[in-house]
Amino acid sequence: MKTAETLLSVEDLAVEVGEREVLASVSLEIPRGRLAVLMGANGSGKSTLGLALAGHPRYRVTGGRATLAGRDLLAMNVEERARAGLFLSFQAPPDIAGVKNNLFIRTAVNAVREARGEAPLDAFDFLGEARGAAGRLGLPEAMLARPVNDGFSGGERKRNELLQLALLRPRLAILDEIDSGMDVDGLRALVLLVAQLRAQGTSFLVVSHYLQLIESLEPDTVMRLDQGCIAEHGDLSLAREIARTGFARASEPVEV
Ligand SMILES: Nc1ncnc2c1ncn2[C@@H]1O[C@H](COP(=O)(O)OP(=O)(O)OP(=O)(O)O)[C@@H](O)[C@H]1O
Ligand SMILES: [Mg+2]
Repeated sequence: MKTAETLLSVEDLAVEVGEREVLASVSLEIPRGRLAVLMGANGSGKSTLGLALAGHPRYRVTGGRATLAGRDLLAMNVEERARAGLFLSFQAPPDIAGVKNNLFIRTAVNAVREARGEAPLDAFDFLGEARGAAGRLGLPEAMLARPVNDGFSGGERKRNELLQLALLRPRLAILDEIDSGMDVDGLRALVLLVAQLRAQGTSFLVVSHYLQLIESLEPDTVMRLDQGCIAEHGDLSLAREIARTGFARASEPVEV
């Protein structure tokens, strides 16, 4: 019996990148307001899963199904997926020359608001919200007026992803190594923001290699991706075991 409403459902998803099949058959479910952590060795396909779900054209889905709140995700284009409430933070956020950060985020926020049947925010109201969120995330206000990520440090780029997350309030947030490069204050702001959004019903798929962060996010589920499939499913004890013994132990038991 299902105890909570399923938000994201992925069944037997297969994804090719270039000539290679990176994901063979990934199946997972994330209920509303729940947080799942995805672990896996470098190159196991974690970013591939996020990018394929977000609709990146380079990541070709060759099989399986994915639904968001019961709607066929794979039938939607990138913009439709974002409007439907999917948010992906990039492992390496790119810069967008010539596009001001505040206009970029306001455009995205208003597209999502329109899809939810909410009135658009004008420049003044948006700036008020954006300033408040930037302050809480320790992002200098001047960064709102600069081109997206232009000259931002590694940690500032990650905080800028968090700013988008805070303002977009998505139904599903896929955070791909959002912690990498962020200082201790950034991590604290991340944990706080995730808890707030989760309490409002946002679901999370969080990719991380960092046990301390995973523990502080209090995940409902921990999964390990290997050989293109979810090889293990568990709770925090799985993350602790992986941190202790590494990824090699599960696929190839070491004999002594
Ligand atoms: N555009 C691409 N062209 C060719 N191969 C790619 C491309 N993108 C990803 N790959 C390959 O797909 C595999 C999975 O990559 P992916 O980035 O999903 O791994 P990951 O689990 O996120 O790793 P990491 O922990 O290092 O971030 C890797 O072997 C990678 O080299
Ligand atoms: Mg990755």
